[in-house]
Amino acid sequence: MTVRQLQDKILQLKQETDTCILAHSYMSQDICDIADFTGDSYALSVKAKSAPNSNVIMCGVRFMADTVKMLSPRKRVFLANPSAGCPMAEQMDKELIEQVKASLPDYAVVAYVNTTTSLKTIADVCVTSSSAVKICKAIPQKNILFIPDINLGTYVKERVPEKNFKLLSGGCPTHARMSESDVLRAKKAHPDALLLVHPECRPEVVKYADYVGSTSGIMDFARKSDNREFIIGTENAIVEHLQFDCPDKKFYPLSKDLVCHNMKVTTLADVYNCLKGEGGEEIVMDEETRLAAVKCIEKMIEYGG
Ligand code: 13P
Ligand code: SF4
Repeated sequence: MTVRQLQDKILQLKQETDTCILAHSYMSQDICDIADFTGDSYALSVKAKSAPNSNVIMCGVRFMADTVKMLSPRKRVFLANPSAGCPMAEQMDKELIEQVKASLPDYAVVAYVNTTTSLKTIADVCVTSSSAVKICKAIPQKNILFIPDINLGTYVKERVPEKNFKLLSGGCPTHARMSESDVLRAKKAHPDALLLVHPECRPEVVKYADYVGSTSGIMDFARKSDNREFIIGTENAIVEHLQFDCPDKKFYPLSKDLVCHNMKVTTLADVYNCLKGEGGEEIVMDEETRLAAVKCIEKMIEYGG
């Protein structure tokens, strides 16, 4: 079967089963093409609330499917490939953060959405890469315990100098792999290119960036820019999508190693099998946990606008 034929079967099954397919921007082009909505973590969270369908398939990683279930408890929500996790989300557990919280009683816990549902139950507010600065400025608390990403936390702290931040040393293994030498090598190879990076990259990378933002932010910037060449400092799927969107511009990965294996694990066949009821995993969440965890996501949407 060709890719096109499999996509046609998916589109038909999607209608027959009243299913909305959400795809994170890191998914491959063949999956993005059959999705009802593609975007960054923040946009997917907002979309999850408003989709009219009774079923949702998330093509992304587990915390994204969990967020959809929190916001839409009456829908059946599926993670297209159950092995797609986010290593950063697993780095800190509720017990660890409860201990840290006990020593910082007047700090608000601001959790990157890349966290487990259990950890979200003790967070005051969630943020995404595109909304973190805005939300940290907007919340009433002056003291912020920002978890788990130290790189995103450092980026936010520099832009919200009026608040006190306590950071812990978590982070994304994919983005944290990038170093100053990767930047210097890429800039030397492509001297006319602008450098666009995700704030999960280390400060030694971010300091060279012409633009810092979420996956959607990076794509918007590149589409609208008059520049013709760009070095992309986030997962390499974004390089591929931009090449399709803007075939007359040139996009170079900051490094061939900017690959998130968890985001790569979901295939078009997984989506097909999930629609047929022969694959994927339905997200099950007990109501007490959901109610405790969804509060910080709803606050995120309220402050994020
Ligand atoms: P976005 O907020 O840009 O969607 O990033 C999510 C993510 O996992 C980046 O690694
Ligand atoms: Fe998690 Fe990093 Fe992969 Fe994003 S790129 S899903 S933060 S491991």
